[in-house]
Amino acid sequence: MLHLLPLGAISLRQDPVMSFFATAEHEKERLQYFASPEGRDDLYQYNQKERRTVLEVLEDFPSVQMPFEWLVQLVPPLKKRAFSISSSPLAHPDQVHLTVDVVSWTTPFKRKRRGLCSTWLASLSPEQRIYIPVWFHKGLLPPPPPSLPLILVGPGTGCAPFRGFVEERAAQSLSCSIAPVILFFGCRNEENDFLYRDFWLSHSQNDGVLSEAKGGGFYAAFSRDQPQKVYVQHKMQEQSQRIWNLLREGAAIYVAGSSTKMPSDVMLAFEEIMSKESEAPRESAARWLRSLEKAGKYHVEAWS
Ligand SMILES: Cc1cc2nc3c(=O)[nH]c(=O)nc-3n(C[C@H](O)[C@H](O)[C@H](O)COP(=O)(O)OP(=O)(O)OC[C@H]3O[C@@H](n4cnc5c(N)ncnc54)[C@H](O)[C@@H]3O)c2cc1C
Ligand SMILES: NC(=O)c1ccc[n+]([C@@H]2O[C@H](COP(=O)([O-])OP(=O)(O)OC[C@H]3O[C@@H](n4cnc5c(N)ncnc54)[C@H](OP(=O)(O)O)[C@@H]3O)[C@@H](O)[C@H]2O)c1
Repeated sequence: MLHLLPLGAISLRQDPVMSFFATAEHEKERLQYFASPEGRDDLYQYNQKERRTVLEVLEDFPSVQMPFEWLVQLVPPLKKRAFSISSSPLAHPDQVHLTVDVVSWTTPFKRKRRGLCSTWLASLSPEQRIYIPVWFHKGLLPPPPPSLPLILVGPGTGCAPFRGFVEERAAQSLSCSIAPVILFFGCRNEENDFLYRDFWLSHSQNDGVLSEAKGGGFYAAFSRDQPQKVYVQHKMQEQSQRIWNLLREGAAIYVAGSSTKMPSDVMLAFEEIMSKESEAPRESAARWLRSLEKAGKYHVEAWS
């Protein structure tokens, strides 16, 4: 896991100090209202919900003549951003690859917003040499030994760590025998956001790490290419026998990606598959999943 400190814009925590430096009466009153208990909800709408930056707030209140040393003290420090490492140290000993999606959304006031760090990273040109403060942290997905069969579930940017896993297995296969790997990937449209398409497909062929010939598999769900949603769970259900066989061989499960509903839905899909294939009640399947977690064989790394 890589922690990265973006160099760029900042967002402001509202403070009564701003009203002190406002010279226009109506701006002073508005800022005092925001700082009062009655103005708390409006402040939340104006600032947090709309995620205004310092610059935007200063543009909205042009009479605020705040000395620079005050401004610097009011601005909260930038947060570090975590990114999964999506390259293998064996395949790229001197490099760290990241898979970053540019976060974008529309605010309640219909303003288009973009994530600070992901937008900044995307603006850099590959030729540019730039020094960025980064830290390495142990993540929640321990590197698996080559002999461990793997079931990987990584929709969207959740595929990031698994690109590294597959690269690592491919490099390991040159010097030792490796256990099978199956990967479930999901994205919105096959045409637009099928991340690392050629990489996955090439490892699925010619006895590659993800090839069925080697006991592996690569299955992609395109959620918005047809009227009904198709998610990774649907592809898992289609491969339930294969998943069950790998679990009986002692496979570990790794899940990465969006932290909203995906991780719990994927866990339910595993529960259903175990129950169906073992002809055991759902409660027994749920207990087995919990025992996998306890044994360090069910790993989840999720982010929003
Ligand atoms: C363990 C871990 C691993 C991660 N790995 C990866 C990875 O491999 N690849 C990757 O791309 N990201 C990854 N992330 C997420 C990454 O750290 C950043 O959070 C992400 O890139 C957004 O950062 P940003 O600075 O661009 O956005 P920010 O400026 O921080 O904005 C993001 C914030 O915007 C708000 N927001 C976003 N969408 C909406 C919405 N629809 N409605 C309302 N508000 C919204 C939320 O408050 C959100 O926290 C990981 C996170 C963790 C914790
Ligand atoms: N503008 C774009 O074209 C675009 C494309 C990709 C990502 N993004 C943005 O990039 C950010 C991160 O994106 P991401 O690629 O990590 O993830 P993502 O694109 O939001 O999700 C990846 C896939 O997971 C699906 N999914 C949603 N809920 C699920 C669930 N409960 N179980 C299983 N799968 C589920 C999504 O389907 P559905 O979304 O169809 O439900 C999608 O196919 C988000 O902010 C997103 O808005 C934008």
